[in-house]
Amino acid sequence: MAETADLTLDGKTISLPVIEGTEHEKAFDIGKLRDQTGYVTYDPGYKNTGATKSAITFLDGEEGILRYRGYPIEQLAEQASFLEVAYLLIYGTLPTQAEFDAFRYKISQHTLVPEDVRKILDGFPSSAHPMGILGSIVCSLTAFYPQSISPQMSAEELDLNIVRLIAKITTIAAWSYKNSVGHPFIYPRNELDYTANFLYMLFSYPTEEYKQNPVVVSALNKLFILHADHEQNCSTSTVRLVGSSNASLYGSVSAGINALWGPLHGGANQEVIEMLEAIERDGGDTSKFIAKAKDKNDSFRLMGFGHRVYKNFDPRAKIIKKAADEVLQALGVQDSPLLKIAKELEEAALTDQYFVDRKLYPNVDFYSGIIYKAMGIPTEMFTVLFAIGRLPGWIAQWKELRENKEPIGRPRQIYTGETERNYVPMAERA
Ligand code: MLT
Repeated sequence: MAETADLTLDGKTISLPVIEGTEHEKAFDIGKLRDQTGYVTYDPGYKNTGATKSAITFLDGEEGILRYRGYPIEQLAEQASFLEVAYLLIYGTLPTQAEFDAFRYKISQHTLVPEDVRKILDGFPSSAHPMGILGSIVCSLTAFYPQSISPQMSAEELDLNIVRLIAKITTIAAWSYKNSVGHPFIYPRNELDYTANFLYMLFSYPTEEYKQNPVVVSALNKLFILHADHEQNCSTSTVRLVGSSNASLYGSVSAGINALWGPLHGGANQEVIEMLEAIERDGGDTSKFIAKAKDKNDSFRLMGFGHRVYKNFDPRAKIIKKAADEVLQALGVQDSPLLKIAKELEEAALTDQYFVDRKLYPNVDFYSGIIYKAMGIPTEMFTVLFAIGRLPGWIAQWKELRENKEPIGRPRQIYTGETERNYVPMAERA
């Protein structure tokens, strides 16, 4: 007999169907609860709400497990390339060599953005944050490719939109930075691999080509993989919610970029470095800031520590920490004052009982911020790099939503405002 959960409300018992995932996560289905009882569930921030069934990413926060399509993140980060992982997330299987070559070739053929994008970029003031530019330009792709807004597109047309977005995001990202510093745009070079091409466009000048460092290219490839998906996080839920209204892929991803920008989400990696720099400016005494973090009357908050769903450690942070050590060594910056501060905070978080009890261990944003800084990535670009990495996950989740024909997202609420009252003409108001 199918398992059910019995719920008694107002003296009436109803049976809610229990559903179980392939990794034995269980939920009870409250889809008919309101019709049957008049009640809705209340869960601000959806902390305990399964908003969808998804076959893309499995995450076990208690055990620190993260798998894309069943493959452990540790194996993918060590052995795969970012585009291979993108293919896996979007199409569900690891590509054969022929499939991969075709995918990579198609992406390399779509890296140019329409020239009119330059005019849009010209309209942004130099004070524009690259994340704001990225979200806007990704949304503007709907104007350059108007057929992309049709909800009824063939699989071939959808694939073309997917390839375009993966190919162009690095060009848009690099140009959003060049625009913010008033430097000339560098055009993509299709013979370079995905990550190297991005670094080339970000760091080269018409007068001088950026010299690729294989350690940096490999670490960035790893970072993109580690960020590629994270089940129903804030930006992915945004992409799914926007996509559920049949909004286009570009429009939905643009919304995801804006959700990611927030300092409580992807923007945290930028905040980590800004916090380290503030501590350095203050004289570098980490014990003072550790005491501030413990003081509940002090608004200071350690950025890059703890995680909403990982209860013991963030498996991505474990991998990045190793990569960070390698990159810092290879670049010869392991003794910089900023990294000394980072190491001291890391040490405190891992050993001080206060942080251990509260599970405030360094997370992925802590180490990614440090690596990006060491690589010479401008601080305002940190979250943009997160967005490039997260793109395949957003695409896969948007595609899955469509394939599963999920209904439009429409949460309910518990109204706490005024009860009915009569309109008062302005002259009679106190
Ligand atoms: C992410 O990778 O999206 C972040 O760790 C945030 C989250 O999962 O809630």
